[in-house]
Amino acid sequence: MNKLEPTSNHPAILVTGGAGYIGTQACKALKEANFFPIVYDNLSNGHREAVKWGVFEEGDIFDRKRVCEVVDKYHPVAVMHFAAFKSVGESVKEPAKYYLNNVGGSSVLLDVMREKKIDKIIFSSSAATYGQPTHSNPLKESDPCNPINPYGHSKRMVEIMLQDSDKAYGLKHVALRYFNVAGADLKGECGERGSKPINLVPIVLQVARGTRPSLDVFGQDYPTLDGTAVRDYLHVVDLADAHVKALNYLLKGNPSIILNLGTSKGASVQEVVNTARKITGLPISVNQAQRRDGDPAFLTADYTLAKQTLEWEPTHSALHKIVESEWNWFQAGQKN
Ligand SMILES: NC(=O)c1ccc[n+]([C@@H]2O[C@H](COP(=O)([O-])OP(=O)(O)OC[C@H]3O[C@@H](n4cnc5c(N)ncnc54)[C@H](O)[C@@H]3O)[C@@H](O)[C@H]2O)c1
Repeated sequence: MNKLEPTSNHPAILVTGGAGYIGTQACKALKEANFFPIVYDNLSNGHREAVKWGVFEEGDIFDRKRVCEVVDKYHPVAVMHFAAFKSVGESVKEPAKYYLNNVGGSSVLLDVMREKKIDKIIFSSSAATYGQPTHSNPLKESDPCNPINPYGHSKRMVEIMLQDSDKAYGLKHVALRYFNVAGADLKGECGERGSKPINLVPIVLQVARGTRPSLDVFGQDYPTLDGTAVRDYLHVVDLADAHVKALNYLLKGNPSIILNLGTSKGASVQEVVNTARKITGLPISVNQAQRRDGDPAFLTADYTLAKQTLEWEPTHSALHKIVESEWNWFQAGQKN
């Protein structure tokens, strides 16, 4: 039965961007953990029909009056802040759009939180905050942050705003640096929507389905096992689980922290293609393309700190499970 109001046993959590890919999965996990998600989304890339766990309040994080109205209505005890634009490539072409939404929008949200005395936030940060890995692989949170594109800068800027807000106002945060998020709900109840994915796994599956002619593989001569670049793929269900654990961590009064979320292992582009061929039983046409500027050979997460801090472990992130769940979601026509 859907509860219509937050209660002390079902505290309200404001979920900005909760109608998007990861936000939807997080709302499901929140609901299962007895929280009451308030989805606040302007639907710029979210979908009304994806809001199934919690109530929907349409609005922009820029719209201070509207954010205040929603906060006054539900009195959330914490915020999960997913709302942002997320395409690295687009951010290079249109940096103003990214700084305005990701940084400007976040500053309005943080200011409302200050005014309304909401002192806990989980923030969707990214591996893009590191830029080119120079120190360690897998990357540690203590490694230097030198983002190489406006998207990465925008995420790092919000992390810095959070650190300053902690010092000045006592706003506690967990900034979760996701690596490559992929996969869909294991029961097929949610997943990524839209026909223009920017991540490898859905793009590979589009090629399998024939809605995209082929996959460009950028670089075949990296110092990896098969020469293609290695990235760290994390199942969206594991990611959602980490959010609930991060929320409980803050609700227990713990200090602010930045945590990597990944598996430490990584898979190459070729391995993703091979896995997708096996699972779909379909040919996936591949073009060998030149390396792209700024693409490192390896980008993987050391998640020891998340494991210790949150007692979190990725349990659904085997590559075949990621690809299979996403393929099932694709096959179901994303109609749920
Ligand atoms: N998907 C990934 O691989 C990945 C990796 C690292 C970090 N992230 C971050 O995780 C978060 C969620 O990513 P996602 O993949 O679910 O993206 P998404 O685009 O599916 O979800 C983002 C949601 O935010 C909403 N939104 C955007 N701007 C808004 C605004 N100004 N006001 C209100 N709502 C707004 C969109 O409508 C959308 O529903 C983003 O902050 C993204 O940068 C994603």
